[in-house]
Amino acid sequence: MQVFHTGAEWQTNWLKSLQNGKTIGFVPTMGALHEGHLDLVKKSKKECDFTVVSIFVNPTQFNNPEDFAKYPTSLEPDLKKLEEEGTDFVFLPDTSTIYPEKPVLTLNFGELEYVLEGGFRPGHFNGVGIVVSKLFHIIKPDKAFFGQKDLQQVAVIKRLVRDLSFNLDLVIVPTRREIDGLAMSSRNLRLNPDERSQALILYSSLTKAKGELLAGKSWLDVHNQIIQDFNETPLAKLEYFELVHPEHFTQFETFDPLQKSSICVAAFLGSVRLIDNLPIIP
Ligand code: PAF
Repeated sequence: MQVFHTGAEWQTNWLKSLQNGKTIGFVPTMGALHEGHLDLVKKSKKECDFTVVSIFVNPTQFNNPEDFAKYPTSLEPDLKKLEEEGTDFVFLPDTSTIYPEKPVLTLNFGELEYVLEGGFRPGHFNGVGIVVSKLFHIIKPDKAFFGQKDLQQVAVIKRLVRDLSFNLDLVIVPTRREIDGLAMSSRNLRLNPDERSQALILYSSLTKAKGELLAGKSWLDVHNQIIQDFNETPLAKLEYFELVHPEHFTQFETFDPLQKSSICVAAFLGSVRLIDNLPIIP
């Protein structure tokens, strides 16, 4: 008889040997898949024996009903792309599988709830935390793969894994960009041609700010200049452009080259909200 004392010991030493020691990589998505998602799948295939991808547009993480209603879906092309990547399993739950009833549990991620995405999208991280926890419980992956484009989501999920003792490794994959620099996002599909061309301001403002900070300009001056650039871009409406610690999301008033920092930006192009970020000091 074997005695074990921790969930990790059970899952790593025993459950896995019952599964013949094969490792499971998991890529949670909301579909409308692009190359950025496929990078996650490629990475999982490289690092794990089996790759499971979920496609589920999670209603509880949308604070804006219009954003949920208009979220792009493309199931057939998605399945084709996943097949071509050699994905082993696709999990396509319906809403009642994930939410047999409305959860009463709410998750609060402390400071992360009040800054940037947390502040502008109240309840968003609760929805992400709940669905990701459910997916982790269902799939029981060894590794889960997330994109760096959603930097604050990465911080939230790291916290979730630590606080709820999920026995898995998180693998964070760099942001995939279009040739002109726009970060790939399923929401880009909703941009009209004018919005698409003006959406470049997200990435160009990040690279401009990074260059100027590293050249010695103050954050205040850089920030003011970027606000002006957005004001001169008629289809763009800036929500935030902030210098933060990439894990705790403390907002910095000044730039310190000895301190880890990233710039995060969120802006509307017409009615489409996009986010992006760039490490300044990784
Ligand atoms: O990043 C996303 O696509 C979603 O937030 C996730 C992690 C799949 C949860 O619904």
